[in-house]
Amino acid sequence: MSEKQPKQKNTALIFADILAARISRRQALKGLGLGGSALMLAGCGIPGGNNVAGKNDVAAGSLTFKELPHGLDPHLAVAQGYNAQVLLSWGDPLFSDVPEFDPYAQTPDRQSKQFGYNNDFIGFVPLPLGSDHSDQGLLVVNHEYTRPSMMYPGSPGRHQLDKEKSLNDMMAHGLSVVEIRKKADGQWQPVLDSAYNRRITPLTEMQMTGPAAGSSRLITSDSPDGVRTLGTYGNCAGGVTPWGTILTGEENVDFYFAGDFTDSGEQENYQRFGMKTEHRGSWSRHFERWDMRQTPAEPLHVGWVVEIDPFDPQSVPKKRTVLGRYKHEGAYVFINHDGHVVAYSGDDEQFEYLYKFISKGKYQQDNRRANMDLLDDGTLYCARFSDDGTLTWLPMVFGQGPLTTENGFNSQGDVLLDCRKAADLLAATPMDRPEDVEVNPANGQVYVMLTNNSRRTAAQTDGPNPRAKNRDGQILELIPPDGDHSAERFSWEMFLIAGRKGAPGTQYHPDISENGWLANPDNCAFDKLGNLWIATDGAEQHQVADGIWACEVEGERRALTKRFLRTPVGAELCGPFFTPDSENLFCSVQHPGDKSSFEKPTTRWPDYDPNMPPRPSVVVITKDGGGRVGS
Ligand code: FEO
Ligand code: CA
Ligand code: CA
Repeated sequence: MSEKQPKQKNTALIFADILAARISRRQALKGLGLGGSALMLAGCGIPGGNNVAGKNDVAAGSLTFKELPHGLDPHLAVAQGYNAQVLLSWGDPLFSDVPEFDPYAQTPDRQSKQFGYNNDFIGFVPLPLGSDHSDQGLLVVNHEYTRPSMMYPGSPGRHQLDKEKSLNDMMAHGLSVVEIRKKADGQWQPVLDSAYNRRITPLTEMQMTGPAAGSSRLITSDSPDGVRTLGTYGNCAGGVTPWGTILTGEENVDFYFAGDFTDSGEQENYQRFGMKTEHRGSWSRHFERWDMRQTPAEPLHVGWVVEIDPFDPQSVPKKRTVLGRYKHEGAYVFINHDGHVVAYSGDDEQFEYLYKFISKGKYQQDNRRANMDLLDDGTLYCARFSDDGTLTWLPMVFGQGPLTTENGFNSQGDVLLDCRKAADLLAATPMDRPEDVEVNPANGQVYVMLTNNSRRTAAQTDGPNPRAKNRDGQILELIPPDGDHSAERFSWEMFLIAGRKGAPGTQYHPDISENGWLANPDNCAFDKLGNLWIATDGAEQHQVADGIWACEVEGERRALTKRFLRTPVGAELCGPFFTPDSENLFCSVQHPGDKSSFEKPTTRWPDYDPNMPPRPSVVVITKDGGGRVGS
């Protein structure tokens, strides 16, 4: 402890030294030719992924846009010279047999064919499959949760919906798959009735796969074999695989359940997951599935990563249990140099852990079918950080170390069902709410958004989580040795520590402007040059809007964050995702007008219609006249 305090206070002073050391370390890496291999890796055919640029692009400086000032108002704002087009809003029909959205006449049937509520993760997969087109593709969007007080006349609370409205509420969850096209005038358009369009909801037929599938602990009336399962909800972030499927993370699923669970046989597990006896939503009032007295095993069906094939609307989504059960923010997939699939994911809760998965099988670039079940077999690891700048990945394997019958594990399935407990026993490092974890394809390093942890005490601080009562979050950089993501030992560095410019304990490039500071990094994306685009959730605690900041990650301008976008009041910004050419940036504006009401919202973005509440929407950002976003 006593060693940590001065470190924080002197952050600004030592920054120049860190920078100098970093530049020489990177030059050394380049001398070894590792930079080149990282670049090659990144080219591994990620459809719609953030492909790496050619040499000429890298040479150009990169984030020359005019920085947007801080502010907080009812409107969305983007840097000068850029356009934000509203592409899809809650209630927009995806099929022509539903009428135009009318918030006074919603029905479950209508909602099941409309764009859902609270868009979060966005994945863009170019059409045709395997191409790197940037003007036509499938947009796959999570609808994380609802806010009935903003959706219905009378502003009901979450737990006050009648059965019909609860069903409607359910249909507003899940995901949308929508074909979109860019027209000749540069405007994007959803394709109504596209054969790919699909709504996935909490009632969609799904399957559990991998080591926990078929576990007797999963048996319910809807799942007599512990394999069949229904639906997904609480979908926060996600990822696009190199074989063109979508991963979606089930996060805050505890809110949907209620009922006494003392006789469930899962008391320890459910308590650890935040389950409560009382109703916090309406589903548990009207449907036995979410009443833990009636269906005690149901909570074990959620908290997974679900893989969806957006190219086959009839496909049955798969819950990939090998990735573990916890509050998944998302899952980011990367192909290691040896062909094994790496998936990174964070457990988004205070003091929870960071995870990595390495597949047993190898990716085959020209054989999609062979890749479709790669996420069923492999090894899951949790992360233990050391203050000396190293990081150990601890394999979570039944029978190894403490993961034995004496500690209540009878199979690998149990290790995955009780993932948090297993990571506790392995002494993984409790983190400050891990949200997005993504690999930068330009340098092969891993970036971890840690959003906050107000409950951390001074005695609990450590290298990667250096602040007590951490309200603002930080970003870590993980460095695999020789670019090898399957290694069990990485090194790590602090990339930035968020918060108001100049506040104690913050760490940015010393030259950030008055508008360059941010708070609560949540989601992220990399453009084709490897610049980091950071989306936030929580900046309003400082009376400034959430939004997007961008920075370079290498060289003199490392961590020189610049504000690019502001959300309307009440909203957080999620999902940012670039088309392969980095000329279109899709963004999710989630919960605009939050904490107000249907009748008196603090904003009516994006319709500005007195009869319309604010609507969560996906916007697409383009540069006036075309060109790379950020230039
Ligand atoms: Fe749904 Fe982790 O934010
Ligand atoms: Ca998030
Ligand atoms: Ca969030």
